[in-house]
Amino acid sequence: MTKGNIMKVGIIGAGTMGNGIAQVFAVAGYNVVMQDIGTVQTERGISMIGKSLGKLVEKGKLSSDERDAALARLQTTTVLEQAATDADLVVEAVFEDLQVKRDTFQRLDAAAPPHAILASNTSSISITEIAAATKRPAQVIGMHFFNPVPLMSLVEIIRGIATSDETYKVIEETAKAVGKVPVEVNDYPGFISNRVLMPMINEAVFCLMEGVASKEAIDTVMKLGMNHPMGPLTLADYIGLDVCLNILEVLHSGLGDPKYRPCPLLRKMVQAGYLGRKSGRGFYEYSANA
Ligand code: 3HC
Repeated sequence: MTKGNIMKVGIIGAGTMGNGIAQVFAVAGYNVVMQDIGTVQTERGISMIGKSLGKLVEKGKLSSDERDAALARLQTTTVLEQAATDADLVVEAVFEDLQVKRDTFQRLDAAAPPHAILASNTSSISITEIAAATKRPAQVIGMHFFNPVPLMSLVEIIRGIATSDETYKVIEETAKAVGKVPVEVNDYPGFISNRVLMPMINEAVFCLMEGVASKEAIDTVMKLGMNHPMGPLTLADYIGLDVCLNILEVLHSGLGDPKYRPCPLLRKMVQAGYLGRKSGRGFYEYSANA
């Protein structure tokens, strides 16, 4: 085996995060099997990867041979176990629900070879709790990528209470091998990224709710005053308002501090189905192609 003993990687989930993660592994030379529950999902995932690779070729960041080689290293399946069989590493990117993650990890634990590392791309669920659903908690770890995965340099690597030093080392090397900068974090609600980001987004929603300023003004202040690439309300739409609310709830219940109380306006928007870009409407409105 090469690259820190990882050659074959299973990716569970072909959604935005899953297909982005599959893409960066395939581009870096790993053999990838991407799994989702149906062919509609896996085909959509492959099409998103094709579009993203196409943009990278257009910009000269990748040659067309490299693109073709990456696509040739990518396989899909609708059977979870198939993505884990013979895998050295499995990265799970299914939706954020503790029970779903625990069930997924139990099945991966039964199907993956004993040496395999099981990683979760969770944005806020406890790695320690996910690991407890397996018989190999020392080989369970968080590998938290950022959207859009092909463009964002960071991977937060989250150590659960039982994660071994060896597992951490392999994943740190693997993150570097896929061109990312790893940052080590201990397992507490929201890790670093969402513990710092979500209160900022929440405060922006409070500013809007209290009439401090318009949404455009709030975003402009953070973009031009703080050099953020997107204002907090635009970023919330990009992440998904339901995802933001869910993470704030994890912070609120996990840390028990009222400062994480989700803004009632954020809750109301999620109740209305205004979920951001993916539903066509959040703080802003989006056309189907946006
Ligand atoms: N693959 C390849 N290229 C892509 C791409 C992808 N997936 N997504 C966007 N691009 C390209 C665009 O096509 C565009 O190309 P062009 O210059 O030829 O038009 C280029 O990247 C720049 O995109 P845009 O012009 O649309 O806009 P920006 O210049 O604003 O860049 C951005 C887009 C990189 C998303 C930038 O706005 C940004 O960094 N935003 C902040 C993103 C962020 O904070 N992400 C983290 C979210 S939190 C998270 O993921 C964690 C979770 O737990 C919540």
